[in-house]
Amino acid sequence: PSEARALAASARTLDELQSILGSYDGCALKLRATQLVFADGNPEADIMLIGEAPGSEEDRQGKPFVGRSGQLLDRMLNAIGLDRTKVYIANTVPWRPPGNRTPTPEEIALCLPFLHRQVELVAPRIIVTLGGPAMQTVFQTTAGILKSRGHWRELTVGNHSAMAIATLHPAYLLRQPLQKHQAWRDMLSIRQKIVSENIL
Ligand code: URA
Repeated sequence: PSEARALAASARTLDELQSILGSYDGCALKLRATQLVFADGNPEADIMLIGEAPGSEEDRQGKPFVGRSGQLLDRMLNAIGLDRTKVYIANTVPWRPPGNRTPTPEEIALCLPFLHRQVELVAPRIIVTLGGPAMQTVFQTTAGILKSRGHWRELTVGNHSAMAIATLHPAYLLRQPLQKHQAWRDMLSIRQKIVSENIL
């Protein structure tokens, strides 16, 4: 991770960070992935979403959240007046884990300096994490997602501070549709924050 930290810190723009990641060989996930899945959306956005890891469709297209989870995510965003022109989307790791398993804590730790630099360079006012692993990674906690979701916190990532909230992962909502009311509460809370803080 110290090599990753130095490399990440050397990136002055998101484009530089993307190309540095493209030639970084320190994470084994890269070896079995088709390509880097760096980000989607608007790099100038005030709202940044952080998911877990690319799946098969993302690995194929090189963009986060373009499969079934992504379609649900788009509907969740649309419901509160957002779309990909108004948010920036990244993942805790930018390569698909084999068989779409959850990335290991070691894999996440290796990629974390790059995610932190990505947050610094986007400098969003609001950060939304999707699902347990992203919440645990970004908030540096072992707490469970069902207890941690829905609460606003001030979050400092490197030299950048933002308001942050965790919600449920769309893939989880596809498997457990009865939990959608909780995610809906979180989306409304995000909407309220956007209005009260004059974001957008
Ligand atoms: N799930 C994620 O967490 N991220 C993606 O990019 C796609 C599915």
